Amino acid sequence: MTHPPPLDVTNRFVLDFARRFEERRPGARILDYGCGAGRLVHAALREGLSMEGTDVFYAGSRAREEATEAGLLGGAIHEMMEGRMPYASNSFDLIVNNQVMEHVEDLDAVLREIHRVLKPGGTLLSLFPAVDVFREGHIGIPFSHWMKKGSRFRFLYTWALRSLGLGTWKEQAPTCRQWAIDKLEWIDRFTVYRSRREIFATYDRYFSSTLIEERYIRYRLLDRPGREWVVKLLRLPLLTPLAKAVFRKLAFLVILSQKESR
Ligand SMILES: C[S@@+](CC[C@H](N)C(=O)[O-])C[C@H]1O[C@@H](n2cnc3c(N)ncnc32)[C@H](O)[C@@H]1O
Repeated sequence: MTHPPPLDVTNRFVLDFARRFEERRPGARILDYGCGAGRLVHAALREGLSMEGTDVFYAGSRAREEATEAGLLGGAIHEMMEGRMPYASNSFDLIVNNQVMEHVEDLDAVLREIHRVLKPGGTLLSLFPAVDVFREGHIGIPFSHWMKKGSRFRFLYTWALRSLGLGTWKEQAPTCRQWAIDKLEWIDRFTVYRSRREIFATYDRYFSSTLIEERYIRYRLLDRPGREWVVKLLRLPLLTPLAKAVFRKLAFLVILSQKESR
């Protein structure tokens, strides 16, 4: 197998989680839901984990082409059709999804389908932002996802911040004005931000869940040397909940869910 492209730190955390899970349950069957181009699947397979991937391949990215070019589509990765995964019920021990749920139209239907293919007692790990996150992560413009869709104010605000050098996106636009038009259209078309209340209410219908941002924070801090002292500091009473609360506003939720055992 060829070398997979490098993983971003969030996918490295997910891979580390899957590795530790597999150590406890050797041979565990793992699924990356919303796997995109399949980088995580590729890296996991290289490590000998039994990971597969599935995705609807929305028009907002080139993931389908990349998964095909990597030789993964139709092998370790399967395309979802009409909201259904091509797997039998009770198939997977662990399902992970990274930065996917803020893109799904119908969260209830997605979780119902995940619940179907997860084995009894199986685990679901979800990382994605709720609406109260400060910065819109896809275009990197703070609060742009809080403003009224299509409003003149939001457009002028995004254009102004882009002109000041803010905003992230791989492909550049010829002008800051065009960048604002394109990127706002992208988030309107491909993101569905929900309140935490709505997210937890929907998860609770299918799973019992806890929030584990502290594990991600610890992983991220230890990803670079010299930060062990911060990790120790964060163990102090009250600092862990505070760090989790701040993290959710700046980044995303990390939800660990369990399907009921039979
Ligand atoms: C931001 S990308 C994340 C891809 C990958 N998980 C990663 O970390 O690189 C979001 C992915 O979610 C997929 N997606 C969107 N809606 C979906 C749905 N209802 N079911 C499954 N995947 C979906 C998109 O096709 C896209 O590949």
